[in-house]
Parts: sequence; structure tokens; C-alpha cells
Amino acid sequence: MKLKVVNIRGFIGALTLDIVCSCTLGQPVDNYDNPENKIAEATSRLFEATPFKKGFMLAFPWVSRMLGLSEFSGASADFLNSAGLELLKKRRNDPNRGKYNDFLDSLIASQSEANVKKYKLSDVEIASQISAFLLAGNDTTGSAVTYFLYNIGRNQKAQEKLYEEIMNTEVNSKGNIEYEPLFAMKYLDAAITESLRVFPADYVNLRVGSQDYVLGDTGITIPKGVTIWIPHYSIQHDPELHPEPEQFRPERFLPENKDNVHPYSFFAFGHGPRNCVGMRFAHLAMKLTIVNLVKRFKFHFVNEQKFVKDHFSLSPVDLVLKVEQR
Ligand code: HEM
Repeated sequence: MKLKVVNIRGFIGALTLDIVCSCTLGQPVDNYDNPENKIAEATSRLFEATPFKKGFMLAFPWVSRMLGLSEFSGASADFLNSAGLELLKKRRNDPNRGKYNDFLDSLIASQSEANVKKYKLSDVEIASQISAFLLAGNDTTGSAVTYFLYNIGRNQKAQEKLYEEIMNTEVNSKGNIEYEPLFAMKYLDAAITESLRVFPADYVNLRVGSQDYVLGDTGITIPKGVTIWIPHYSIQHDPELHPEPEQFRPERFLPENKDNVHPYSFFAFGHGPRNCVGMRFAHLAMKLTIVNLVKRFKFHFVNEQKFVKDHFSLSPVDLVLKVEQR
């Protein structure tokens, strides 16, 4: 069977942007065939601050605030916020409003008297929630799926085990795997977690102390207001926590081995009350995408790839794999 060399990053990025836009705004942006789409362009340019600027802002938050520095591109943020307001207006006048069952419908419903408990979101807040979801949900999910395919390309045994699990999972009359069987797939779940351990989309979690905190019996006090960096990439690559950390081994996270993994040695979605609100959605999007790809294609490793690290994220730029139709 002929193998085709494919830059997988472009395909997956366009697909995950379509998934996030369909579920958030009720419409895909068709970014692959239409790369000049304005929403796609603004989303990809939103985080255009250089690593130096981001580092400066983290090191000197007060000075940065006084200088009016922002991590975001003002033009892209303005575009997305006004596009969000425009979409909101359009949806309010849409006779099918409430039937799309997407994030925009839920946000509009949250403004109705019956649903308001303490606080009613303004239209500007709704528009900024939309931008936040596009920003937080697109690149992260796209990177995660891209890295996953790279990892199973490096570990053919894992890819075959996953393929077997997919082929042995119950399908509906259209040949698709539904929600419950999808979430009962243990190897898929373990492989996704392991892939996010090896290549988390973010590098660090940040927290600001709301009160002075004494660290156990170390005698160290973290003063209130100090920004704490939790270097989760390093924690996830600590050989004492995950032996041979560079190896992609889904077995580490299978239910029978899960108890051997320290609960705070995996941070890909953060921890605590401010962890990733999109985690379940991301799992669903990743699982559906991966199952449908692995069912049809086999992915082969080409060579070690370069990933771009900045202060926050680890992003695959051009990730090339050989793809074979099954
Ligand atoms: C594989 C995909 C994803 C990864 C790895 C990821 C990872 C993260 C991480 C590490 C955080 C910070 C958590 C913390 O500080 O404890 C976060 C926050 C967040 N994520 Fe995700 N995320 C993903 C997908 C998504 C999706 C699909 C959405 C929405 C559609 C989303 C929305 C958010 C939001 C809104 C926050 C901020 C939460 C807050 O501050 O309360 N994420 N994500």
C-alpha cells in the first residue's frame, strides 16, 4: 500500500478549529479550504506576543499594567469581540434560536430571567466568552491530536492495540461509535492521557496566592500576591514519577496501573477549581477524531520533530508523518 508523506499539523488544526467553531457558534469556518477566513485568521493571531514580551509581563506585572502591555493582539481581540457581538445579534433574531444546542444558545439562555440566579452576563461578556473558548479550545486540542498521531507513529505496537480496541467496539446502525462505548474504551483513554503527559499543550500552570501560605514543615512562606509557576512539563517528565519519561507507554494509565501514578504528577488540564473547563469537551473531540482517523489510516514515524517551546506552550509547527490507508 502506498504511503503518503503528510504535514499533519495543517489538517488537524483546521479540523479542530471547525469542531470548536461548530460547537461554540453553530457554524464551522471551513478553514482548510478557506484559509483566509477572518475568524480563523484572528484566532491564530490572537496570541502574537513574543516570548520576550510574555516573559517581561510575567516578571514585571505591575510595570506591564502601567504600560498597558497585553499578551493579545489588540486588532485580533477587537475583531473577535465585534464578530461575537454580531453573531449574538444575528442569533437573537434567528427563528431557530435555542435549537442549535451550541455554546451561543446556552449563553443566550443564561440571560433569561428564569435562569439568572445572581448575575446576568452582558452582551460584551458573552462576546468575550466566545473569544476565550476559541482561544483556549482550538490550538490546545489541535496540538493534542497532532502529538497523539506522532506518538502512535513512534509506537506501532500501541497503534495496533488501539486499532484492535476500535474494531472491537460496538457501533450504531451507521457504523459510528456512540458516546457510552467511546468513553468505555480504556486503551484509547490511557493513550490520550499518556500522550498529554509526554507533550502537554501548556508548559506551566500559574496561580496567585490569595493569602500567605506556609509550605509544610519547610519553613518557607509564599507571600500573598506572589505568582507561582507550577512547571508541569518538568513534573510530567520526572523519571522518579514516570520512569523513562520520554517513552510513550499508554499502559501507565490503564485502570490496573493507574494507582501507581501519583495524582499530582499529571497536570495537562490543570488541577483544582480553576482547572480546564473544556476538559470533557476536549476529550470528546479528541476521542472522536482519533477513532475516525485510526480506523481508516495507519500513521508512521518519519523523523524526530522540532517543537516550539515558549513560556507557556509547546506547539508542533510542521509535523510530518507517513500516512497509509488501511
Ligand atoms: C487537549 C485540549 C486542552 C488542554 C490540554 C487544555 C489545557 C488547559 C489548561 C492546562 C488550563 C489551565 C488550568 C489550570 O490553571 O489549572 C486550561 C484552562 C482553560 N481551558 Fe483548556 N485545555 C484544552 C481544551 C480546552 C477546550 C476545548 C476549551 C473550550 C472549548 C478549553 C477552555 C479552557 C478555559 C476557558 C480555561 C480557563 C479556565 C479558568 O481560568 O477558570 N480548553 N486548559
